[in-house]
Amino acid sequence: MDGNGRWARARGLPRVAGHRAGVTSVREVVTACAELGVKALTLYAFSADNWKRPTEEVGALMGLLVRFLRLELPTLRRNQVRLQAIGHTAKLPAAARNALHRVIKETAHHKGLTLTLALNYSARQEILDGARKLARALASRNGHRPKTLHREDFRKYLSTAHLPDPDLVIRTSGEMRLSDFLLWQAAYAELVFTPVLWPQFRRAHLLDAFRTFANRQRRFGAVTPA
Ligand code: FPP
Repeated sequence: MDGNGRWARARGLPRVAGHRAGVTSVREVVTACAELGVKALTLYAFSADNWKRPTEEVGALMGLLVRFLRLELPTLRRNQVRLQAIGHTAKLPAAARNALHRVIKETAHHKGLTLTLALNYSARQEILDGARKLARALASRNGHRPKTLHREDFRKYLSTAHLPDPDLVIRTSGEMRLSDFLLWQAAYAELVFTPVLWPQFRRAHLLDAFRTFANRQRRFGAVTPA
């Protein structure tokens, strides 16, 4: 969800105004995905590197998160959205942590879209955490041979074990990087880069990205049948 700062600067507003406007896009995209029958949507809301931002901006982002969780619960209920989180959420401020865990608990039984917020998330850290967990599991199972482990076994040690791999990754604002997002899981994801800044991203842009996706040929390393 990139481009909040640039959206604000172009209007002579503080960066935080861009994040605030970005929440409207979050609301619209979550509702659209729920209505369209998308199974899983993961939003990169705060990276482990975002702590490097000014304290006021980090504080404002955490405040927006708390407010979003408080205000959106009825909509999440109505749309049967199940909330999850990935990342080191234990390091978030208490108010954000508590609001997050409350909504995760209250939506756990929902059967529609799984909305996962990536918060204090780093894909490299996630892979390292998974490797550590796996090493511990192997150490406790004497005689288990690492060679018998497959990719499908390793994915269970990632924080996204509850999710399918993403089919599509959308990055807004013209940046063409993954920035430490789902590096393992996005191995075969289709990437769509749009110049639209996140606060301007609407349902129509989401549908454009879906159309682009639908026109891609996915070969997963194989050849296309004649
Ligand atoms: C990147 O844009 C955006 C973020 C680091 C924060 C995204 C947060 C929100 C959209 C609002 C809160 C989220 C939820 C789920 C309620 P940037 O600031 O790097 O933009 P720039 O590159 O133009 O400066």
